[in-house]
Amino acid sequence: MDEVRIHRGLKEVYLDRTKSSYVDGKNGKLYYRGFNINELANNSSFEEVSYLLIHGKLPTKSELIQLTEWMSVRREIPSQIIDLISSIKHLHPMDVLRTAISTLSAYDKDLEDESIQTNIERGLSITAKAPTIVATHVRLRDGNDIIPPNKNLSHSANFLYMLFGQEPDDLDAKLIDKDLILHAEHGLNASSFTARVVASTQSDMYSAITAGVAALKGPAHGGAAEGVMKQAQDIGDESNTKEYVKDLLSSGGRIMGFGHRVYKTADPRALILKKDAKNLSERKGNPKWFSILQSLAECMEPYEKKGICENVDFWTGAIYNLLEIPDDIFVSIFALARIPGWTAQVTEQLDNNILIRPLLEYVGELDIPYIDIDER
Ligand code: ACO
Repeated sequence: MDEVRIHRGLKEVYLDRTKSSYVDGKNGKLYYRGFNINELANNSSFEEVSYLLIHGKLPTKSELIQLTEWMSVRREIPSQIIDLISSIKHLHPMDVLRTAISTLSAYDKDLEDESIQTNIERGLSITAKAPTIVATHVRLRDGNDIIPPNKNLSHSANFLYMLFGQEPDDLDAKLIDKDLILHAEHGLNASSFTARVVASTQSDMYSAITAGVAALKGPAHGGAAEGVMKQAQDIGDESNTKEYVKDLLSSGGRIMGFGHRVYKTADPRALILKKDAKNLSERKGNPKWFSILQSLAECMEPYEKKGICENVDFWTGAIYNLLEIPDDIFVSIFALARIPGWTAQVTEQLDNNILIRPLLEYVGELDIPYIDIDER
């Protein structure tokens, strides 16, 4: 057999070219369509960033109004999906989200239409509906009435409204909006890669986004924020942090919210969210979680030189917790944010499609004689 070079985990392999986002892991910078993430986090909105990612340019005022209205009237989900959510409400919110997004295809009257424009609209329509799926699930499983979407609220404010049943504080809604912006797109991460693989077989947008949700669920990817808060709860008090970190690392464990395949320096999203987590903990008069996470970050400082730094999920858990969002939907919020990114990348893949089909080097035996079942 020919000698082959293995790239385990496809580390440092370039699959194709993209204009969606640039993750500069060496310098700790992130760009969406050429715009620095700091600028977008401070000035933009999730709806605007969705437009930017998908269309490749910032919208004009009227384009943004049009998109915002278009999405706001597509937030409702069919009653059959509400019944479905109710029937599986005991599952993890990511399992419910994955199942519900997959089922949305049953209510698409133009499934045969595979034009780019229709696929973009599907991605945006799923983006509009996904918060309703997550909030409906939380309300139903907690035994509460469902809160129908309010089309007069922004995407982020409406999500909090449907979750808690009251219009959110402006600062809280703005913070969730910023969090969604920061999670919206990120190069060829595992879930975007998965979505691209599915799209490359000429499957469909529902399948690609469903697959993206499935890949995002794991703790090595989107599930880390929930893990961060579990660790903070286990630590319980900042005086225990040193001991906790020592014990965990010496037993081969990993600190959730640290490390990244591409960033070998500070994740720019974590730097932004750290400030927000600090401000929010002061605003809510609850410094406990920020202090524990701060002490955890300090204990991990020696690992910076190995390239193990805080990633985006380190501070999001604290922010969600301070906003009284249930721990098990942290990863679902990441998924809600990433749908425009998946849509942009699926569209890009389809625009210049090639089947994604790498190879595996076979290292097993060959020509093993077949033994009849009675003689084994
Ligand atoms: N805690 C302790 N050590 C770590 C951590 C961590 N969080 N992350 C990496 N390392 C160490 C590994 O043990 C390994 O050490 P070794 O070379 O001595 O064996 C070295 O750093 C390299 O680790 P890899 O797993 O090879 O690096 P990779 O790039 O594959 O991993 C990953 C990236 C999966 C994110 C990893 O850092 C991790 O498991 N982090 C914790 C989970 C997490 O925060 N995930 C969210 C990622 S960001 C996102 O998806 C939004």
